Amino acid sequence: MNLCLFALLFAALASTTPAHPQAPIQPIPYSHKLHLALGLKCQDCHEMPAPGDTMTLPQTPKCMTCHSSIGAGRPAIEKLKAYAQQKRPIPWVRIYEIPSFVIFSHKTHLDAGAKCESCHGPVAQRDHLWRETPLSMAWCVNCHREKKATTDCGSCHQLQD
Ligand code: HEC
Ligand code: HEC
Ligand code: HEC
Ligand code: HEC
Ligand code: HEC
Repeated sequence: MNLCLFALLFAALASTTPAHPQAPIQPIPYSHKLHLALGLKCQDCHEMPAPGDTMTLPQTPKCMTCHSSIGAGRPAIEKLKAYAQQKRPIPWVRIYEIPSFVIFSHKTHLDAGAKCESCHGPVAQRDHLWRETPLSMAWCVNCHREKKATTDCGSCHQLQD
């Protein structure tokens, strides 16, 4: 290959962090890796309101506790500020979702000792998130077999009468 072209190509590759092909483009290029390296914990941003079925996404004011000053002037932070000022929720593209006919509780699993990483991958090392586990019925049932948890249809599905 032409050496000059090679150098150009290399420069182009080095200057961008390539996202995983399955990672959706988010409205704001938020990085878990960068923020978790600051010492933040998952639950600082993902609260688990009772009864603990769902983990929530952070509200914009949470971001603004730091970003009303940090990063001012940068395009991504100005965009973040605009959402905050207009009190509009950030339209994050959802990644982990199961159909509504499936019963799932975060609390049950966390109480049983499951770690975020076993279902969501090594989030703290990711600049961009994508669905790293299948979330299929077989995936749920395999872990249940392994951990000797229930495999009754009615535990995960509301049975019609
Ligand atoms: C500073 C706030 C912050 C912290 C701390 C944080 N997150 Fe997040 N998380 C976000 C934001 C913002 C999104 C939405 C954007 C995205 O998907 O990257 C998100 C999305 C996610 C999603 C995808 C949700 C979905 O289905 O769309 C998972 C899973 C997740 N975070 C897990 C974690 C885990 C595990 C940790 C701790 C290791 C963590 N997060 C720490 C802010 C945070
Ligand atoms: C505990 C403080 C803190 C919180 C809370 C926080 N951030 Fe950050 N954020 C930082 C720091 C520090 C940086 C690195 C700034 C730098 O590069 O100098 C950063 C960088 C960023 C960047 C990259 C800016 C750029 O273009 O270089 C984005 C985008 C961002 N944060 C979005 C968010 C979003 C969205 C939230 C809320 C879900 C959030 N942050 C919450 C401290 C925070
Ligand atoms: C046993 C597997 C499992 C574990 C452990 C787990 N999650 Fe999840 N997570 C899921 C599933 C399944 C969904 C989709 C839930 C839905 O659509 O109702 C999800 C969804 C999410 C979402 C999107 C919002 C929501 O609740 O739908 C976030 C954020 C999230 N998880 C964060 C975390 C964090 C942070 C931890 C660790 C404290 C964690 N998860 C542990 C399986 C898991
Ligand atoms: C990492 C392993 C793991 C994965 C993956 C997993 N589970 Fe579980 N699940 C468990 C364990 C362990 C328990 C037992 C908790 C207990 O009995 O305290 C459990 C319990 C449950 C329960 C409660 C059953 C009862 O006794 O009420 C439901 C419902 C459930 N899981 C649904 C799901 C669904 C739906 C999925 C897939 C989206 C899933 N689980 C994925 C490990 C897992
Ligand atoms: C540990 C939890 C769990 C158990 C136990 C379970 N399922 Fe499921 N099931 C799921 C999940 C999660 C999905 C959604 C899969 C998807 O979206 O791809 C699902 C989907 C389905 C579907 C929709 C079609 C499909 O395959 O996507 C049917 C029908 C179904 N389950 C029947 C059953 C029957 C019958 C049993 C008992 C033999 C059972 N399930 C046991 C978690 C479970």
